[in-house]
Amino acid sequence: MSHHYSKSTFTTAQHEVPFEMEEIFFSRTDERGVIAAGNEVFRRVAGYSWDELVGAPHKIIRHEDMPKGVFYILWERIKRGMATGAYVKNRAKDGRYYWVYAIVSPIEGGYVSVRMKPSSEVFGTTRALYAEMLKREKEEGISPEESAAAIREALKTLGFSSYGAFSSLAVTEEMQARDKALGRLADGRLQSLKDLLPTLEELNKQQNSLFESFAKIRSIPSNMRIVASRLEPAGGPISAISQNYRLMSDEVTNHLGGFRVEGGKRSLTESVMARVFNGLFMVATSRLQREVREVARADLLKHTERDGFQTEVEVLTNLMDRYKLESGSVLSSVFTDVTALTRSAKDLRQLVTGLDSIRVLCRVEAGRLGAQSASLIPVINQLDTFHVEIDAALEQIMKLADRIKALVEEAMPRSLTGSIYGSADY
Ligand SMILES: Cc1cc2nc3c(=O)[nH]c(=O)nc-3n(C[C@H](O)[C@H](O)[C@H](O)COP(=O)(O)O)c2cc1C
Repeated sequence: MSHHYSKSTFTTAQHEVPFEMEEIFFSRTDERGVIAAGNEVFRRVAGYSWDELVGAPHKIIRHEDMPKGVFYILWERIKRGMATGAYVKNRAKDGRYYWVYAIVSPIEGGYVSVRMKPSSEVFGTTRALYAEMLKREKEEGISPEESAAAIREALKTLGFSSYGAFSSLAVTEEMQARDKALGRLADGRLQSLKDLLPTLEELNKQQNSLFESFAKIRSIPSNMRIVASRLEPAGGPISAISQNYRLMSDEVTNHLGGFRVEGGKRSLTESVMARVFNGLFMVATSRLQREVREVARADLLKHTERDGFQTEVEVLTNLMDRYKLESGSVLSSVFTDVTALTRSAKDLRQLVTGLDSIRVLCRVEAGRLGAQSASLIPVINQLDTFHVEIDAALEQIMKLADRIKALVEEAMPRSLTGSIYGSADY
């Protein structure tokens, strides 16, 4: 396209198109990404006329600094019906650039992209990542698909389990940074959901250490039985105790299965974490959609938009309603999962208390046998050590589970926690 190489390109390419933090802009496309409509801020920042934009592919504002892999991921996800967030550097008609954080949502017959000005720390991290990917695309000649895989890999090393997890955190950070910059009140719900993530990670760690302790315990009852058989007939009660201990610890191990989902492949906390990421994305996006729709409605009333803008307000209203519903249902499924998690932790503690009493019985019986039981003592000492470990892990798990539940309750829309005050905000 000739305008990309006009004379002004060389004088303005280093410059940024200014726009305000408050300004939110959007565009709507058909299924192939051909622009159908948008708002005035979008047109102004891109620097084109409506005649030039409507009917043009969205890549009309593509910037050469953008790695191809980002668009590969975007299209791969939106074609599957998944709303997707991405940082995008765009190029205005006069060659200047502007960065946005965009959320592209599939709608009937096409897509809507809503954009805000990025300013969080994640933005800085992402720019560095894009620069590295662009370099690799150029130097190694990797395909868009390979670049997409490399981006996902790089995000993993940055600590994001998936692109979805990354975009959930990015949209949350951007909304929070924007609230701060605009002097708005911090969003308590977003913060509560965000606080859930490190808490869930800690819970996952504690769960794994519990799994390890139980794995170590498994050999103990048979060791006990061997020792007890040497003490026959005095070892009879010890045999019975070890038998009981084994049955009970089997039950505990089975119960640990309750912390696993998807045929044992994933822990319940990992699955809750994935839901929390989804919840963060939905809650943050829902807020952004509400705002863009309010702005669009006000602009319609002020007659500052083009004829036919009423349709766009309707599209945005539908999208806003959809996000409101979806964010509510994602949060309620997080609540259900977390309730299951805390119940599982409580049941487990009860079982371990039972196991503990068998351990005490064993000690008592060894004491009764006196010197005869010398060979039993190391086995019992071993049991004691494991029980101390297990108690410590369980105590942590209970504390974390309570904290998780409280955070989820704080993040819930009021209508879902059954409050009489007003309707859901999301
Ligand atoms: C709703 C929607 C909005 C989009 N917005 C942009 C945009 O702002 N900038 C951009 O470069 N690409 C945008 N794209 C992606 C483009 O369609 C295109 O994939 C991209 O510019 C890269 O071009 P290429 O796929 O031909 O390499 C958008 C796509 C959709 C569906």
